Amino acid sequence: MSLLEIDRLSCRFGDVTAVDEVSLSVNEGELLGLVGESGSGKSTLGRAICGLVPPSQGRIRFAGRPLPERFTASTFRRQAALVQMVFQDAYSAMNPRMTLLDSLREPLLLQGKQRGKESRLALDWLDRIGLPRRFAMRYPHELSGGQRQRLGIARAFITEPRLVICDEPVSALDVSVQAQIINLLQNLQRDTGVAMLFIAHDLAVVRLLAERTAVMYHGRIVELGGRDVFARPRHPYTRALVAANPGAGGELMESRSLLPPAETGCAYRKRCPYAASVCEASVPMLVTDEADRQVACHRLEDIDKLRR
Ligand SMILES: Nc1ncnc2c1ncn2[C@@H]1O[C@H](COP(=O)(O)OP(=O)(O)OP(=O)(O)O)[C@@H](O)[C@H]1O
Ligand SMILES: [Mg+2]
Repeated sequence: MSLLEIDRLSCRFGDVTAVDEVSLSVNEGELLGLVGESGSGKSTLGRAICGLVPPSQGRIRFAGRPLPERFTASTFRRQAALVQMVFQDAYSAMNPRMTLLDSLREPLLLQGKQRGKESRLALDWLDRIGLPRRFAMRYPHELSGGQRQRLGIARAFITEPRLVICDEPVSALDVSVQAQIINLLQNLQRDTGVAMLFIAHDLAVVRLLAERTAVMYHGRIVELGGRDVFARPRHPYTRALVAANPGAGGELMESRSLLPPAETGCAYRKRCPYAASVCEASVPMLVTDEADRQVACHRLEDIDKLRR
């Protein structure tokens, strides 16, 4: 059953098309990875699902209901009850003048859920994220980076959303702490059955966690598939990503090569070793292959032949 259905969604900021005709679905309880270099539109897509960025075009349906085109305070609250976000910078999403206890009670109070039980639940969540209860009266600045991210995670999960969008949740943390946070997210997802959209630069993290992964380039999904996406990449961009990440560690390529908005054709063609005239003529659409992999590339068959 799909929980989230995105249909040809575009998000524009002036003449920048951050998300360009993206169609995607996330199933109930699924962990979907989303990778792509800086500026490819990952965060904008996540924010649009939360109602934080208005779509310029296309539709988002969540739990069978279309997201409103314009959010009011009440529709926004309703969406927040269903979808929560975990950010890279947990601290910036918190009120520095609130104790941990109040930070955890706040989302419950805002949604009017579990009225009267907020403090009890907040303390339970301190346990669940592995922070001692004596931290309840401390402030976020007294925490380490990893502890703050634990708090950010608890704030997202405490209202029992159906989907949690993790936007680079470990990118700012030390490697040793990263593993602990990923472990926590994995355990929480298993215990709560929540669906997760996991946005990351680090292919290794996504490879470890995600059942399916979408690869974004320049606002579009260029490849989408199961756990074998990184073992058997098909799109030239995914191939380049994997080749640049031997051993699956490391970071995605950082360069931003934005084409002017009026240009047609495949956005990857200027970096693509297989580009041909057809790539200039039109934008390739996602096509599903026999193994249920979706790839958007005009040259796919020729590349397969060339590499054989
Ligand atoms: N509020 C905004 N106003 C104007 N342009 C924006 C805004 N938000 C994003 N953009 C632009 O949209 C494009 C996509 O940005 P986005 O933050 O979604 O990418 P990203 O894949 O999350 O990148 P990163 O990996 O660096 O987080 C970029 O060109 C960015 O500059
Ligand atoms: Mg981002």
